[in-house]
Amino acid sequence: MTDFVARLHAIVGDKGLITDDQGKHPFLTDWRENYLGTALAIVRPATTEEVAAVVKLCAAEKVAIVPQGGNTGMSGGGTPHEEGREIVLSLTRMNRILEIDKVGYTMTVEAGVVLKTIQEAAADADRLFPLSLGAEGSCTIGGNLSTNAGGVQVLHYGNARNLVLGLEVVLPDGEIWNGLRALKKDNTGYDLRDLYLGAEGTLGIITKAILKLWPKPKDHATSWSAVPSPQAAVELLSSAYAASEDNVTSCELMGRQGIDLVLQHIAGTSDPLADKHDWYVLMEWSSARPASVGDNAAGLRDKMEAYLGEAMEKGLVLDAVIAQTEAQSKALWALRENHTEASKKEGPSIKHDISVAVSKIPPFVPEGLAAMTKALPGCRPLVFGHVGDGNLHFNCQAPAGWSKPQFMQHGDAISGAIYDLVTAYGGSISAEHGIGRIKVHELEHYRTKIELDVMRSLKRALDPQNLMNPGKVIQIQ
Ligand code: FAD
Ligand code: MLT
Ligand code: ZN
Repeated sequence: MTDFVARLHAIVGDKGLITDDQGKHPFLTDWRENYLGTALAIVRPATTEEVAAVVKLCAAEKVAIVPQGGNTGMSGGGTPHEEGREIVLSLTRMNRILEIDKVGYTMTVEAGVVLKTIQEAAADADRLFPLSLGAEGSCTIGGNLSTNAGGVQVLHYGNARNLVLGLEVVLPDGEIWNGLRALKKDNTGYDLRDLYLGAEGTLGIITKAILKLWPKPKDHATSWSAVPSPQAAVELLSSAYAASEDNVTSCELMGRQGIDLVLQHIAGTSDPLADKHDWYVLMEWSSARPASVGDNAAGLRDKMEAYLGEAMEKGLVLDAVIAQTEAQSKALWALRENHTEASKKEGPSIKHDISVAVSKIPPFVPEGLAAMTKALPGCRPLVFGHVGDGNLHFNCQAPAGWSKPQFMQHGDAISGAIYDLVTAYGGSISAEHGIGRIKVHELEHYRTKIELDVMRSLKRALDPQNLMNPGKVIQIQ
């Protein structure tokens, strides 16, 4: 054991340190298996004070730190580099829910709590924590806040940034900033909290958070509609806001290619409609008002049925089903949530987590599809995502049977074509997955000099030794 590792051990003990190759491996590679790094050790502190002591030691020894939560990130931000002096600092032992304030609608948690655990604790208290995404069974709230995660309910509740009131952060010099304030209003100077949200571990380590809660929905309606085009999807959503009395909580678009992959690779899934169609919309309406109360006796399901009937008459919907039970609703959601898993099982793919204004989705989609297939004839576009936020996963699946190295030779041409188009539409090259390691060069290319200069100034000021997740998000020369 080196002297440095021995000093880490003195802080976190046996339970908090992994140094053998087999034990380290899962922390050194990302979910997509794009990277495989090395680390002096995997350090798993149990308290904020232990995190602070580890960070102080690393600052003194000039060892870089890669914070990690559930390691489900899509951009390689939580994976160490192939060479260099780094530790992975995993927050997963800091997994306690500290307080639920039912009256104030808040929950205080440690950074390593798994998102699903938070959702369940909120539901048990008759409240809702609305962040919801496919990786919710393993991603952590610290990772969610550090990536400013999105997911499937952003159009109603906002992304992770909108779901938090206060933070506790260990700064790059090991000092602890206690910003755990449950305040809805606080205009006392620059907003430090917002700096750390979406910073992907490059400015400090989030150790605790005060989250916002909402009333638990008591009435739900889930529909699966075949639509003729993305244009129809956007129009369907546009009029659903009023028809649902502002209760649209999810609106997801999927192309047929993705459904075919899910049906092929994910056991227990089935096509809800008799015929195949090019595009589908999964819509969820939910409300805290129970269906049986007063003049609301009809409930959201009846309202949705009437609404979809009218949409069919207008030609916006070709065929549709509405879930009659929770199990049916879950089965529809499984078709959507398993896209990422099914794509991984199918083989290599390139992800483009893009956003444009919702009203620009209809022209963007056919232009984007044409650009992708021009860049690599024979590639398989896999388009799905959060159309209600203007955020599509405009992904590209390799031609059947291609190896990853063979496919990746075309990566720059494919991604360049999509990102140039997104930029021409005034959109974003990273809507919800962050920059991490995978888009560092794209950020340099697509953001203006002034934006990059401000980002670099912030990074240099807050992390002068460049030890906090270096090489991620923004390069410091
Ligand atoms: P990690 O992967 O461990 O880390 C992500 C980044 O945050 C890294 O840069 C890391 O250094 C940093 N970090 C982690 N914890 C901390 C901390 N406590 N303090 C400071 N920095 C920290 N994302 C979406 O936005 N929307 C989706 O719909 C979505 N769907 C997904 C579906 C699947 C099947 C999968 C596998 C992933 C999906 N993701 C989605 C991506 C991923 O789940 C999110 O980015 C999630 O927020 C990452 O959380 P994590 O705990 O796994 O973070
Ligand atoms: C999702 O929404 O399922 C993920 O963010 C998408 C992806 O894997 O590209
Ligand atoms: Zn997504």
